[in-house]
Amino acid sequence: MTNLAVRYDASEEHWALEDVSFVLREGERVALLGANGAGKSTLLLALVGVLETSSGEIALDGRVVRKETLRELRGKVGMVFQNPDDQLFMPTVHEDVAFGPRNYGVSEEQLEKRIEEVLYWLGILHLKNRLTHRLSGGEKRLAALAGILIMEPSILLMDEPFSFLDPQSRQRLKEILALLSQTMLIATHDLEMAKKFCHRAILLRAGRLMADVPIEDVLTDSALLERCGFQFGRKPSPSVKLR
Ligand SMILES: Nc1ncnc2c1ncn2[C@@H]1O[C@H](COP(=O)(O)OP(=O)(O)O)[C@@H](O)[C@H]1O
Ligand SMILES: [Mg+2]
Repeated sequence: MTNLAVRYDASEEHWALEDVSFVLREGERVALLGANGAGKSTLLLALVGVLETSSGEIALDGRVVRKETLRELRGKVGMVFQNPDDQLFMPTVHEDVAFGPRNYGVSEEQLEKRIEEVLYWLGILHLKNRLTHRLSGGEKRLAALAGILIMEPSILLMDEPFSFLDPQSRQRLKEILALLSQTMLIATHDLEMAKKFCHRAILLRAGRLMADVPIEDVLTDSALLERCGFQFGRKPSPSVKLR
């Protein structure tokens, strides 16, 4: 993608994303880092065509994505939203996971097999007939991921996938992600995860690209991290005595 720019309101001076360019290579796992409001979610939403870009281009497999080819892009790029409640919208897990493939004309017989496979693989087959809004945070996250993985996307975009999860669910999700071979762009504040799991990091600050470097380089550059809102290596400030 090249020179992407997004603003939420055409009359606004403020650009949520300005002149951002980078390349995602096949099989690569890239951490998207930045403080709150840096533009991570905006970037991911622009990449799946949920947000229209004011300028710039997104290319997939060497072809520029246009309005007419957006459907094709959506078949190849799966986005896991930060809040699973924004993603799950059918009453039951089964119906939710079935929605995407059904839309793409998968036969009912095939569909059932694929639903069971993906739920089994994620370890949530037992949730198949449960109501989505009654699931726990971690269960919702995995159900949302099932709805994405069943589409067999080649690229996964994830917006703070570890948020809302307890340590056990977080660990479980990390293990699952490590088994996937998809190209991934993961917005996260979890530098430990990024270090273990990602090859490269893209840093955003106030909608601008600050760095696009191998992950090791980012983790050793505490000045850069601090500029981008990470309190890295800084001693906690002395606690305030209340009484
Ligand atoms: N729906 C929206 N309408 C207007 N401005 C928005 C909207 N969503 C985000 N923004 C603004 O865009 C900028 C980037 O936000 P966002 O992409 O959500 O950041 P991040 O995901 O890194 O926390 C912020 O200044 C934010 O206030
Ligand atoms: Mg965000």
